[in-house]
Amino acid sequence: MFRTHTNGELTLENLNEEVTLSGWVQTIRDKGFMVWIDLRDRYGLTQLVFDQERSSENLMAEVKNLGREFVIQIKGTVIERASKNPKILTGEIEILVKDLSLLNASELPPFTIEDQTDGGEELRMKYRYLDIRRNPVKNKLIFRHKMAQKVRNYLTEKEFIEVETPVLIKSTPEGARDFVVPSRMNPGQFYALPQSPQTFKQLLMVGGMDRYFQIVKCFRDEDLRADRQPEFTQIDCELAFVEQQDVLEIFEGLTAKLLEDVTGNVYGEFPRMTYQEAMTRYGNDKPDIRFAMEFVELNELVKGKDFKIFDDASLVVGINVEGCADYTRKQIDALVDWIKRPQVGASGLVWIKYQADGTLSSSVNKFYSEADLQLIAKKFEAKPGDLMLILSGEEQKARTQLSALRMELGNQLGLRNPNEFAPLWVVDFPLLEWDPESNRYHAMHHPFTSPKPEDIGLLETSPGEVRANAYDLILNGNEIGGGSVRIHDQKFQSKMFDLLGFTKEEAQSQFGFLMDAFKYGAPPHAGLALGFDRLVAILDGNEVIRDYIAFPKNNAGRDVMIDAPSSVSELQLDELQLKIVEKA
Ligand code: AMO
Repeated sequence: MFRTHTNGELTLENLNEEVTLSGWVQTIRDKGFMVWIDLRDRYGLTQLVFDQERSSENLMAEVKNLGREFVIQIKGTVIERASKNPKILTGEIEILVKDLSLLNASELPPFTIEDQTDGGEELRMKYRYLDIRRNPVKNKLIFRHKMAQKVRNYLTEKEFIEVETPVLIKSTPEGARDFVVPSRMNPGQFYALPQSPQTFKQLLMVGGMDRYFQIVKCFRDEDLRADRQPEFTQIDCELAFVEQQDVLEIFEGLTAKLLEDVTGNVYGEFPRMTYQEAMTRYGNDKPDIRFAMEFVELNELVKGKDFKIFDDASLVVGINVEGCADYTRKQIDALVDWIKRPQVGASGLVWIKYQADGTLSSSVNKFYSEADLQLIAKKFEAKPGDLMLILSGEEQKARTQLSALRMELGNQLGLRNPNEFAPLWVVDFPLLEWDPESNRYHAMHHPFTSPKPEDIGLLETSPGEVRANAYDLILNGNEIGGGSVRIHDQKFQSKMFDLLGFTKEEAQSQFGFLMDAFKYGAPPHAGLALGFDRLVAILDGNEVIRDYIAFPKNNAGRDVMIDAPSSVSELQLDELQLKIVEKA
């Protein structure tokens, strides 16, 4: 037997027991006549003691040959420690070692395997298997596992069946680029890796599975960010004979359950907000509602006062930053610089300070009298001590820029507490969005989403105004899921492709299989997918998903540990009938 116990479980209750333990040498403290070792495994640390007086000469010699991360097995007796460590469960005991076997030696690791490590990001990615030995990484993977278990249990209780769908498929249009895989047996042809199992789950509904889920890898060739990986995991679901309300209830229940497990709090019904309202109040379709700073529109108060910038703008909109009237010139300049960065792209910022003594000052005193400023402050519902920040310009742009500023201030002012959770449904998304590049409408969610029945009439006349039966689940300002009620009528689906600019032939070659299936009694159906990596990271108080993925890619989409992607041999290329052509 390799071990009678793990390194995380022995206590004073096991006093005098003879035990066998295995694990990695974390630290060695050598006082000459006595040596202590912290032995580590996934479960914790146990202190081992080797003592000149009580251990054999041989053993004392053997222990001197050990180094960090050596893998050993020991036999010994559980004894009480002289100096106890209340921080760990095994902190009251140690093992007086009688027998030591070296299971494997280790080279000196490139960074320290401790909670606080000296290893930089890139180095730890290269030796990810060593990083996983560290508690902060290991605990995140364990947390992820626990969440996955709870998801499976919840959905199984609700009659969902987990079905695996293929990974070598034909491209599904979810808006990102596909990863493609050449087919040896079909030269010149390619599979695509699924951006999601969207069409398959709809086919499962036609197949009568009724309630499907899958914790599934999805692949999208898009630019990476903290909350995006090229391969990521969805909790993907689809249900037949349901309406939007049913889907929201089930997944609100699931999310509430996970939140309750993490926080111990009870989460009631999640608030719902239409897309339109989210854009008006927060300039964003995934608002963080843990803090206020709601948008205040000022057009009717600020125009016609000879301030050209506001006069020319289609929207003048601001936020009230509570308690920040004492911001210095330097602090305000820093905010101005921040919004002028190319990523945000605003051209400037107007500020109004509601001084503690009740007077108002602003960066536009030349144009606005104290009485004008009073009216504006009133519209903001500002109090003495508050700072009002105002942006202007083209409507959509001004909203997006102000939304970025609002989030930045939320971060700077500590209003985005990672241990506080504010879930929110955003509903009634537009069905279509205009893409100036291709000069046509694109489906905002995907082409299988159904419009709201009352808006169908607008499809021909003003397609941009049609709302979809589509919904997103937002948690703390992050989109953690999205879905929709689907089109299940073959003729209507075909019309939708038409509207999206597909020719009959294109629609048939890309989606003929789905439209054919719809001819054989497709039930009404709806579904959604939650981004599992994002959900897990946020539940654990984090927004960087990489740490919750065992072997993630870096920002350039590379796995630096296995060094992928990489070139393949001439032989492989020949078999695939592919040729690398250098671009001129
Ligand atoms: P959608 O494209 O909105 O919907 O994706 C669902 C959720 O997946 C997460 N997500 C990502 N997570 C990490 N890295 C990425 N690159 C990434 N891309 C998306 C997000 C997102 O909300 N088939 C539809 C769902 C449906 O209609 O049922 C779909 O895939 O959290």
